[in-house]
Amino acid sequence: MINDIRNAPKESLSLQDAINDMMQLEHVMGKELQYDPYHIEVIKGTLTRHISTQLPDIHAEILEALAAELPEETEWKEVHAFRAIRKIVCRATNRAFVGAPLCHNPEYMDLNIKFAINVFLTAVIMNLIPGFMGFLKVAVAKWLSPSSRTINQAVKHLRPIIQERLDKEREYNGEWPGKPDDFLTWLMSEAQGNQLTIENLTLRILSVNFATIHTTSIVLVNCLYALAAHTEYIQPLREEVKGLVEEYGWTKTAISKMWKLDSFMKEAERTNGGSAVSMHRKALKEFTFSNGTSVPAGTILAVAVNAVHHDDAIYPNANNFNGYRFSSIREQQGESIKHQMSTPDLSWLLFGHGHHSCPGRFFAVNVLKLILASLILKYDIKFEREGEVPPNEWLSVNNMPNTSAKVLVRKVTLKGV
Ligand code: HEM
Repeated sequence: MINDIRNAPKESLSLQDAINDMMQLEHVMGKELQYDPYHIEVIKGTLTRHISTQLPDIHAEILEALAAELPEETEWKEVHAFRAIRKIVCRATNRAFVGAPLCHNPEYMDLNIKFAINVFLTAVIMNLIPGFMGFLKVAVAKWLSPSSRTINQAVKHLRPIIQERLDKEREYNGEWPGKPDDFLTWLMSEAQGNQLTIENLTLRILSVNFATIHTTSIVLVNCLYALAAHTEYIQPLREEVKGLVEEYGWTKTAISKMWKLDSFMKEAERTNGGSAVSMHRKALKEFTFSNGTSVPAGTILAVAVNAVHHDDAIYPNANNFNGYRFSSIREQQGESIKHQMSTPDLSWLLFGHGHHSCPGRFFAVNVLKLILASLILKYDIKFEREGEVPPNEWLSVNNMPNTSAKVLVRKVTLKGV
């Protein structure tokens, strides 16, 4: 039935309304984002088209972030994986969203990381209030909502940047020397009327960070744990990355040719990641599936992603980790452009599928590969107890890699990269 959900028009099965119900976003983040999501088109269009030109800056940021979060010594040192990865991801992605130096400002990073956690916790509490007590939801949202506090803090950081860009825009009427090429600029060039206020633009940046930091960090931690548990993959992956970087530099071409790395990451996420359900939709009118089953308006639907990703009929020996599962299929004739991490299909649903599939997936996968490739060239990694991934943590239907586990990391020096 996933095909029916994927093909259903937004007016019929809506992701936005499902998320609003589950996360109470209308109360927590306000109505504009929910019902005026023009930033989604900017992610899908301009951000995705600019990945190649953004890569050198993102790579420079990643190198600094790795040096800040991981040991410089050649002896094994313990690293709290989740904490380190969240910061590295936050810096790398915000380099493309708002540029330097704000992307590595500790207070700005901290507020973006905490914002998502607070939105989630507020939603949990709000969902305890029955629907007919709408007045109470409004009062609780006002009291608990992270947005008013966090927006004020975020505005403090973004105001000078946005104001300067607005002033220059007026002065030069469009282009000016040194105009930043980042997501904030692209957002501002699409914004109209009220969307151009500092508060509104700040809210968009917060919400894009909300969609980015934790999702990307969780996937990267799963990859890191897979690497630390299956250290035999480090050398072959290192050779793939080194060879391609020597030939093509740190470019999108090199990244797209890292088939083994792509396969390893997809397999790490398939085996260790995957919430119980994803691709939530709310039926805005009665919806009938192709097998004749109907659900009434107001029903929340979701896809059992974890079950799909662990189905032996789709993935032989589904519970066994095989880092080259996808790269070896791609080597067969006619298969080379399929089976990639960023390509949704009926058996690969990390980014959803269909009308609502994640608009940031190409950006996310490029950044993820860039971080892991850079890390593999500079560090060895393992768990204290080799071969074992620490147990996952379930939070409601969400499946998280262990949030407190430590990995052992040491610096290596390779010639030529
Ligand atoms: C590995 C990282 C990421 C994962 C696993 C992920 C996953 C998802 C999933 C499962 C959905 C819902 C798809 C559906 O229901 O069919 C989604 C939607 C969305 N994602 Fe991502 N995402 C990631 C990164 C990003 C990034 C980097 C951005 C922004 C640059 C982003 C922006 C969004 C937005 C705006 C939506 C809502 C789309 C809509 O309403 O139509 N995501 N994402």
